[in-house]
Amino acid sequence: MSLFANLSEAEPDAAFALIEAYKADNFPFKVDLSPGFYRDEDARPWILPSVEKAKQQLWSDSTTDHEHLPILGHTALLDRAQSLIFGATCKDAATIASIQTIAGTGANHLGALFLAKARRPRSVWISDPTWINHHEIWQWVDSRIERQTYPYFNKQSFTINFEDTISTLKLKAKEGDIVIFHGCAHNPTGIDFTKDQWKAVAAVCEEKNLVPFFDVAYQGFATGDLAEDAWSVRHFFYNTSLEMLVAQSFSKNFGLYGERVGVLHVVCRTEIAKSKTLNMLSRLSRAEITTAPINGARIVAKVLGDADLKQQWQKDLLHMSHRMKSMRKRLLDALLKYQTPGSWDHILTDIGMFSMTGLQPDQIRQLKGIYHIYLLPSGRISITGLTEHNVEYVAMSINKVVTTPKLK
Ligand SMILES: Cc1ncc(COP(=O)(O)O)c(C=O)c1O
Repeated sequence: MSLFANLSEAEPDAAFALIEAYKADNFPFKVDLSPGFYRDEDARPWILPSVEKAKQQLWSDSTTDHEHLPILGHTALLDRAQSLIFGATCKDAATIASIQTIAGTGANHLGALFLAKARRPRSVWISDPTWINHHEIWQWVDSRIERQTYPYFNKQSFTINFEDTISTLKLKAKEGDIVIFHGCAHNPTGIDFTKDQWKAVAAVCEEKNLVPFFDVAYQGFATGDLAEDAWSVRHFFYNTSLEMLVAQSFSKNFGLYGERVGVLHVVCRTEIAKSKTLNMLSRLSRAEITTAPINGARIVAKVLGDADLKQQWQKDLLHMSHRMKSMRKRLLDALLKYQTPGSWDHILTDIGMFSMTGLQPDQIRQLKGIYHIYLLPSGRISITGLTEHNVEYVAMSINKVVTTPKLK
C-alpha cells in the first residue's frame, strides 16, 4: 500500500480541463470562450509586435547568456515594473520592496506566504466571486488563515454590491486582516469599482487598519491605458499611509503566458521595514525557486526600457483592448438581434477579457455538447475567443439554449 494512496482527490482544474477538451474536439466551428488568454482576429495566439522586436534584438546579441538572475530578480525589470504600476520615481520607491516571481500566480503565492510568516493574519477577505486560484493559494499556504468573502457582485443585476462590500469590511473585518482586490478588470465579472468607490474602500481600509493586497493581472490590457488601469493602486499608494502588497503579472499585457514573468511589491513605508522585508522575501523565494526565469524578464525589461519599443507596446495594448471592445459590441448586437431573453447590456460596459453571462449549468452543458462552445461552469465567458467569423454563431447558440425549454 502506497504512502499516498489515501490522498483526497479534488476535481481537475475546470479551466485547464476545458482547454484540453476543446483541443480534442474535431468540430470545425468549435469556439473556445473559456481561457483567459488573448486571441487574435482568427482566434489564434498573438505575439505582440513589441515583444517580437525585443526578442529579435535580445537573441541577436551574442553576449546573451543563460546565467542565474540575482535572487531578487532582473534589476531593470524590478525598477521598470515599479514605475509602471506605481508611476513611481526613485523617491517614491524608497520603501517599496520588490522581487521577481513566477508570474502573477507566483506573486500572489509569495505574497500570501510572506504575510502568513510575517504577520499570521486572522483572515483574508476575497471577493465573491474571484479568480479561482485566490482560494487555492491561501488554502495551501496556511489553512489556519480563515478565508472569508465580501459580496462583490450581484448576479441578478450584473452590478457591484458596493454597499454590502463596504458594510462587510466595516463590520466584520478586523485590524490586520488582509483584503484582496483586483486592481482592474475584475476576474470573472469584468466590473470594477468606480473611482469614488475605490476612495471609499481605501477609507475603510485605513479606518480599520486592513492590509490591501492588489492583484494586478491586466494593467493596460483592460482599457488600453496604463495609468487608468493603475488608478486604484496609485490611489492607495499616494493617498493613504497603508502598507500594502501588489502582485503584478506580465502574462496578459505582454502575451508572455508561458514565460512566467511577474513581480511582487510590498509597500513598507519605512526603509528599515523595506530592508527586512527584502531579506525575508529573498529567503522564501530562495527556498522555493532559487531564482526566477530570465528570458521573459529580459523581454519585459527591454520593452519598458526602450522608448520605441514602449511606444509600440502601447499600440499593441490598444489593439488588444479595441478588439475586445468591438467583439463586446458585436456579441451584444447579435444577442439583441435574436431577441435573446436575459440581461445583456453589461456585456458592452464590462472591462477587459471577461463577462458573466448568467447562463445556467444545463445551458452551459448544451453549449458545449450541442454547439461545441466552451465556457466556464460559472457562466464566465472570455471575450477574446470571439471573432468576426464566430460571433453570430455564438449569439445564435446562446439564444437557442436560453429559449429551448429544459428537458425533463
Ligand atoms: C486575477 C488574476 N490574477 C492572477 C492571474 C495569474 O496570472 P499569471 O498567468 O501571470 O500567473 C490571473 C490569470 O488568469 C488572474 O486572472
